[in-house]
Amino acid sequence: MRNRTKLPLEALGPVLLPMQPVGILASIYPDISTDAPLELEVGFGKGLHLVNAALQNPSSRYLGIEIERKYVFFAATSVVNRGIKNVRLIAGDASLFMATHIPKGVVDVVHIYFPDPWWKKRHHKRRLVTQGFLENVLLVLKPEGMIRFATDVEAYYQMTEELLSQLSGVVRSNPESTSSVAHDMDYLTHFERKARLKGKPIFRWDLKKLV
Ligand SMILES: C[S@@+](CC[C@H](N)C(=O)[O-])C[C@H]1O[C@@H](n2cnc3c(N)ncnc32)[C@H](O)[C@@H]1O
Repeated sequence: MRNRTKLPLEALGPVLLPMQPVGILASIYPDISTDAPLELEVGFGKGLHLVNAALQNPSSRYLGIEIERKYVFFAATSVVNRGIKNVRLIAGDASLFMATHIPKGVVDVVHIYFPDPWWKKRHHKRRLVTQGFLENVLLVLKPEGMIRFATDVEAYYQMTEELLSQLSGVVRSNPESTSSVAHDMDYLTHFERKARLKGKPIFRWDLKKLV
């Protein structure tokens, strides 16, 4: 993940998708079965989790959506440099994408890691995770689909716990807190790495959609 030199757009082309309805998922993963699990990551930043997950699960399909174009290009460069075939990336707003661009009941897992905290109270409305956002995520999930969440901001975690308590048809669990790392980039995401190197605790939940 240390490659800072962005590849030219022509080289990244196959990995990047325009913001459009993802109706025909088969055609965006030409090498992978249409029955393969589909995992979505919102706000993937530099893409450490997407790259590692895609390498570990080559027969799953990964779709990332990130609002900052510079991070989309950074992550796309990592994907192309590693020859990864099962990742596609979109530059755009995950809330809009979730609400209008993805079919219902097609996603196996939605990953939400270290969303921007928007500390000031008057800015809380800019937070990615809202009741409406979670409801839209549940709509795109298959039955038994999962949301996986992590943050180092306890107040954000508590806010999401409040939102989860208002959802029905779901089961929440608390994944293992933190494991030891084997090397300098052996973290879930770049933001997890930053937080853990500073000794901060990480707060996580998983949520399963029942039907
Ligand atoms: C704190 S960073 C975390 C990045 C990454 N998940 C990690 O853990 O390293 C939050 C990321 O969410 C992205 N983001 C914020 N709002 C977004 C939105 N509405 N749609 C998509 N991405 C968004 C930001 O650009 C940023 O890359």
